[in-house]
Amino acid sequence: MSATRESSIHGIWTSRWTFILAATGSAVGLGNIWKFPYIAGENGGGAFVLVYLLCVAFIGVPIMMAEVMLGRRGRQSPINVMIEQVKVVRAKKVWRLLGWSGVLAGFLILSYYSVIAGWVLDYVVRMAQGVYQGATAAEVEKSFDQLVADPYELILFHSVFMLMTMVVVAKGVNRGLERAVRILMPALFILLLIMLGYAINSGGFEQGFHFMFDFDFSKLSLDSLLTAMGHAFFTLSLGMGAIMVYGAYMPKNASIAKTTITVAGLDTLVAIVAGLAIFPIVFANGLEPGKGPGLLFVSLPIAFGNMPGGQVFGTLFFLLVTFAAWSSSISLVEPAVAWLIERHNFSRLSASALVGGMVWALGLLTVFSFNLAKDFKPIAGFNMFELLDFLTANLMLPLGGMFIAIFVGWVMRRRAVKDEMSMKSFGLFNLWIATIRIIAPLAVLVVFGFELYGRFGG
Ligand code: TRP
Repeated sequence: MSATRESSIHGIWTSRWTFILAATGSAVGLGNIWKFPYIAGENGGGAFVLVYLLCVAFIGVPIMMAEVMLGRRGRQSPINVMIEQVKVVRAKKVWRLLGWSGVLAGFLILSYYSVIAGWVLDYVVRMAQGVYQGATAAEVEKSFDQLVADPYELILFHSVFMLMTMVVVAKGVNRGLERAVRILMPALFILLLIMLGYAINSGGFEQGFHFMFDFDFSKLSLDSLLTAMGHAFFTLSLGMGAIMVYGAYMPKNASIAKTTITVAGLDTLVAIVAGLAIFPIVFANGLEPGKGPGLLFVSLPIAFGNMPGGQVFGTLFFLLVTFAAWSSSISLVEPAVAWLIERHNFSRLSASALVGGMVWALGLLTVFSFNLAKDFKPIAGFNMFELLDFLTANLMLPLGGMFIAIFVGWVMRRRAVKDEMSMKSFGLFNLWIATIRIIAPLAVLVVFGFELYGRFGG
């Protein structure tokens, strides 16, 4: 029987709040500020947003609780947690794959995440230089197109961001990060509110609001369903062990249910506010909501370029998006780094260097997919960036999350789960168990089924 450990060899968050901050730091990132608005735009708005919210509440939150629980039970890297839990209940060895596929998903995600974070860094510099002061929408759009057409510039900033990520991971999650997140997350939120204030007065607010909250289901394709569900996993950092490894560092006395709900709530709030800040600007300037990954990088510079103090606020804003991305990216590689330390006695530094180097190289695929290899579409009309995004967010994360739910719900001993969750309310515990046993896995399967039907049957 795996006894309950009080601590992990990697450290422990200093309090319940530090866990919340770190997990929120992981959850709130490019997914909220960059990805959510552009995929909501591509998928027609309202109905997509509703499906996404339902997925967060009924699939995401219960699975997040399961992931944190599993991590805290094991107090190790997800790979070793799975190896150990499989032994404890004498389950089939295939369950170990769950730890491995998570590490792979983390590598793949960070490889493109870092390239996009590189754009953000680039925009910090541009904003500070006042490049967009007084610029028209057309000029801002053109400058974005020029950026992504330049592989050298993308590689430069991708490299800087990977370096930043691996430096923090090398120092250990406890030191530096905890303190940074405590200041940066509130600051990001305040700046988002300033943007929201600007958007409310931009003249496009009503249109933006309706775009996000009018639930017109005729706009929702079967493909959109999968994208919405995949994004629920992506934005909550679920399905690959990131939240599990953060759970491994969680103090014993913290309530898993309450902290998880807080994290999911904050994450959702940031996404909604980001959408409400961006879409009004999009409509007020006649931009196309479905213009894809460049949406953030075109709409906000227009706003900052034309508001008083825009140079300062714009610089600050992109700086904070950088920090949001930064506190997310470290969680994508922490599982792999923790495993190298546990299993192969690596120092944190060499583990980080190895993992960082591998992810950096993978990132080149994404870099070139925007320029040199723009027309290389190996599968289903997706270029490499789109393929990596689809494969991870829409397939690997939902599958990983589903199997985590099944493992916790059906394979682990009920008493161990109950003990680790230590929920006071009997009813709520049973509700949660029912959700991860049946509702969440079934929901994932149903969405997959719809997608297959949409692609091949309909
Ligand atoms: N949730 C982060 C975001 O929205 C990205 C992220 C960090 C992530 N860790 C993860 C996504 C683990 C999936 C799995 O930007």
